[in-house]
Amino acid sequence: MVTFPTLRPRRLRKNKLVRDLVAETHISEKNLILPIFVKENINEPEQINSMPGIYRYPLNDKLLNYVQESYENGIRSIILFGIPAYKDDIASSAYDKNGVIQRAVRMIKDSFKSKILIITDECTDEYTSHGHCGLVKYQNENYVIDNDESLRIHAKIALSQAEAGADIVAPSSMMDGVVKAIRTALDEAGFYDTLIMSYSVKYASIMYGPFREAAYSKPAFGDRRGYQMDPRNAYEALKEARLDIEEGADILMVKPAHTYLDIIRLIKDNFPEYPLAAYHVSGEYSMIKAAAINGWIDEKTAVLEITTAIRRAGADLIITYYANDIAKWIKEGVPF
Ligand code: PBG
Repeated sequence: MVTFPTLRPRRLRKNKLVRDLVAETHISEKNLILPIFVKENINEPEQINSMPGIYRYPLNDKLLNYVQESYENGIRSIILFGIPAYKDDIASSAYDKNGVIQRAVRMIKDSFKSKILIITDECTDEYTSHGHCGLVKYQNENYVIDNDESLRIHAKIALSQAEAGADIVAPSSMMDGVVKAIRTALDEAGFYDTLIMSYSVKYASIMYGPFREAAYSKPAFGDRRGYQMDPRNAYEALKEARLDIEEGADILMVKPAHTYLDIIRLIKDNFPEYPLAAYHVSGEYSMIKAAAINGWIDEKTAVLEITTAIRRAGADLIITYYANDIAKWIKEGVPF
């Protein structure tokens, strides 16, 4: 005999009004950060091959127009990546007063004032001929990363970004002690109000492939497994996040996002009092884009479902190349 249920969870899903009323997770353009590539010595935006729809912008009104367009969509935070004309062993163009990132920050600040929050990625890989996130030394017939010497350079880069007007600096090198080195340098120079958003939990991921094409930052030798985290480890993330908190990070980050939802949940549950950002990275963008271009997936629903999942896992902020699309799509109403 068939028995009929008295408990009916489906009542809460019976129509969109009920579903919207009880939905736990929402996405807002206010929590999104748009990454922007800025390249020296070009006049027109260049589309990135492996990231259709994403461009490298020149240091001119094309960049300002793009920021303006994003502003009109509701985007208020951007993270800048510089692509310099000049690279050397010590990343000198990363802390040059007239470097690509310093000029980009000043240009955007001049025209947008405090209407836009500017975050700067703080690393050496785009600025060094060897493409590593720290300085390299030759030891026992091998090239190794000189962690402590790198800290000096990272502090210098962060300080020059703050001097140019960055609101938030975002160290992404995974060098031990980098957050403390930067906090100390900023405080000594009086930049108490400059925030640090640390790439605390950054895995050595293949998902950064398209970014490295975009920023020409593939390491010339070796890989990043000696400093970025091992994808097989979860609990190591707690150690990295705890150290960054002790060293003075204001905002933590997990990267990549979609591939590491479990890590986002772990960090949020253990450090709920710290704002948590998650970086939906280039490869995660390109995979959806490729499927969408082929007609294999509905792009809007896929992106909204995935970014909602990243928020549901515990991320407060999302850095995503889809920020502008999401801002537009949520105005149309989410398809859930
Ligand atoms: C380092 C940096 C990288 C990304 C952000 N900051 C590259 C790397 O670690 O190789 C990758 C972001 C992405 O894939 O979208 N400057």
